[in-house]
Amino acid sequence: MKNIMITGGAGFIGSHVVRLFVNKYPEYNIINVDKLTYAGNLCNLLDIENKSNYKFVKADICDLDNMITLFKEYSIDGVIHLAAESHVDRSIKDPLIFAQTNVMGTLALLQAAKLSWEGNFPGKLFYHISTDEVYGSLGFDGTFFTEDTSYDPHSPYSASKAASDHFVRAYNDTYGMATVVTNCSNNYGPYQFPEKLIPLFINNIRQGKPLPVYGKGENVRDWLYVVDHARAIDVIFHKGRIGDTYNIGGFNEWTNIDLIKVIIKTVDKLLGNPEGESLNLITYVTDRAGHDLRYAIDSNKLKTELGWEPSLQFEEGIEETVSWYLENQEWMDNITSGEYEKYYSEMYK
Ligand code: NAD
Ligand code: DAU
Repeated sequence: MKNIMITGGAGFIGSHVVRLFVNKYPEYNIINVDKLTYAGNLCNLLDIENKSNYKFVKADICDLDNMITLFKEYSIDGVIHLAAESHVDRSIKDPLIFAQTNVMGTLALLQAAKLSWEGNFPGKLFYHISTDEVYGSLGFDGTFFTEDTSYDPHSPYSASKAASDHFVRAYNDTYGMATVVTNCSNNYGPYQFPEKLIPLFINNIRQGKPLPVYGKGENVRDWLYVVDHARAIDVIFHKGRIGDTYNIGGFNEWTNIDLIKVIIKTVDKLLGNPEGESLNLITYVTDRAGHDLRYAIDSNKLKTELGWEPSLQFEEGIEETVSWYLENQEWMDNITSGEYEKYYSEMYK
């Protein structure tokens, strides 16, 4: 495979995947296709934007004709599909765009691949990035989501991702398209949009603003360092079994409130504040509607079959992450002020 389309490459996880592939595989051409919604930020890719094997194309994955054109123009033989609406709270307020982008956008991309590859799938791959949220919610009973867990999505976001996963598998079953689906747990690390828990709270602590904890803060998430997710995608893209599904997770469960206390401790330490100074910012607020209680991924299949394991201990990863946000204040301020959207608006109308 040589010409790889990565969709959503200007977002959080996509930018790490683009960076890894551009740097590690100079022999590949990486075409980053992103609509630059509010979540897309080309400043996430400043360090690789001039590399000769990298090309950015501003485009909407829902635009089937344009996707077909891009497949032909760049002779695409591999797709790593990350473009999506990704924030659960936004999906509760405005579900329609989630169905449009996540379901219809994925379908348009699948159809563009099918028409362009004309049934000749050897050497081609459509790799769809999904989430553990499609499996629903676990209790506090020590069980995990495996690749065989039935789908049971609860939010408009997870319902839209579940639908897109089904379409990908349908293209494999019906047309024989070479596909892989992976379902990953919560990612953390640099370049995450500050509407999500970790960057939002780091920025609020720095500014002495309240930290809105939903409900009692008892919900559990399984956190994985984003670079480890990108490493998993690399391994699965190259060695994953066609038509198969892999779960990706860090065996790293935290209740929200415990995680928030770690973030507070780390930010206070790095800013030179007295220990525990920012604990008083914790503010319990109305719970998220339909808030899934617990996610926990069993990623043993990936470890056993393909040898992938997380490389970073959580304590190390969270300290690196907090340091990154504190040291890259300009990146954060450009987002919170809205400046980042102006950067490329002339170049990419
Ligand atoms: P993100 O919101 O940070 O980035 C999404 C990117 O998609 C943005 O750059 C945006 O501009 C682009 N995009 C949105 N609509 C588009 C469209 N119609 N056409 C082209 N581009 C479009 O998301 P993220 O957190 O990086 O998540 C990436 C993928 O990984 C998503 O599919 C998400 O469901 C999945 N995922 C995320 C996590 C997580 O913890 N963040 C965990 C598991 C899976
Ligand atoms: O599990 C994978 C999913 O993780 C991805 O598929 C999603 O794209 C990604 O956004 C993430 O979803 P979550 O809803 O788990 O992430 P978020 O950062 O929004 O919230 C994490 C937890 O923190 C969740 O239980 C809700 C809670 N929370 C979140 C925010 C933003 C709060 O208590 N307060 C907040 O202000």
